[in-house]
Formats: sequence, C-alpha cells, structure tokens
Amino acid sequence: MTNYAKIIAIFIRILNIDIWYNLTMKSILYQQCEALNDSSLPAISNISNILALLYHEMGDVNWIGFYLCNDQKQECLLGPFQGKVACTRIQYGLGVVGTCAQRQKTIVVDDVHQFPGHIACDAASQSEIVIPLKKDDQLVAILDIDSPITHRFDNSIKETLEDISLILSDLISVDNILKDWWF
Ligand code: SME
Repeated sequence: MTNYAKIIAIFIRILNIDIWYNLTMKSILYQQCEALNDSSLPAISNISNILALLYHEMGDVNWIGFYLCNDQKQECLLGPFQGKVACTRIQYGLGVVGTCAQRQKTIVVDDVHQFPGHIACDAASQSEIVIPLKKDDQLVAILDIDSPITHRFDNSIKETLEDISLILSDLISVDNILKDWWF
C-alpha cells in the first residue's frame, strides 16, 4: 500500500468512521490487485503476487489459493497458494471446494465445523470462502480463502473478493498453469 493511501486510511479510522474505513481498505485492496496485474509478465507471476498481497494484507487469513477444476475428471487440483501444505485433489461434491465446483456459486462458511464434510487442511481454519472462477462461462478454478477466526467473510468482503476474482479469472487457465494433468 502506498504511504498516501495508508495516511488516508488511518485518518478515516481516527475519525472513527468504520464503514468508510472498511470501504476505503477494500477499494485499496482491489486497486492493488489491479496494479499487480502486469501484462508484460506471465500469468503465473501475476497470480503469485496477487495471492501474496491478499494473504498478507487482508488480515486474519491463514490460507489462500486456487483449486483448478477439471469437469471431465470431476476433480479439483491444488494450484498456486500461500499457507500450509494442503490437500492436492478434491472430488467434485466433496468438502467446501468440491461443493463449490458442483454449485458454481460463491459459498461463505462462517464456521467450518458446522459444514458437513469440510476438509481440514489447516487445523487453524475456522471460516472459509470459496469463489468459482469462470472463463467464457466455463468453470476453471476455485479461489479458496481460510481464516483462523469465525465469521471472517461478511457480505462486503465477499463482494470485493468476487470483483478481485474477475481479475484472477482472466489470468488463470489450464494453459497458463499446467496442461499435462488435464488431458
Ligand atoms: N477446506 C477445504 C479444503 C481445502 S483447504 O481449506 C486448503 C474444503 O473443505 O474443501
């Protein structure tokens, strides 16, 4: 975050206008992701940097990454991520990720212990959001974010992340990440 943006954010916080503070921070987060998307670089570099930014700047995030979706195999495969070692393959319909692949809709889980079949990769995770990434109406990946606190993902951060996921949808594709596993 630039110093200028930080000063504005702190000033708004001092004024105790939480709602404006949150909106400013979210818009800054989106703008930073946009700024990191450098078209002169390969997609994998931009994806890696955007994931690192979100992991470190969002706060209360212990895992963030992609699962690449293969409709033919009905399987999600671990892609680029930040955080602890995670499960490599998740069948459609299983866990939060596999359920998202099946429903192709964002799922917010306020308390992972209440989600039947939740797959615990990091015992610290308490809440989770999964967002389907589509290209030409075709599911390509799931963006998965875990938090060590419950109820981390309210409606406004959900909307911000869905906006950011549009930047990521343009970057992530089988061609950009891996071909071998696919066919
Ligand atoms: N919790 C996910 C598994 C992936 S990890 O969170 C990285 C699930 O239930 O599908």
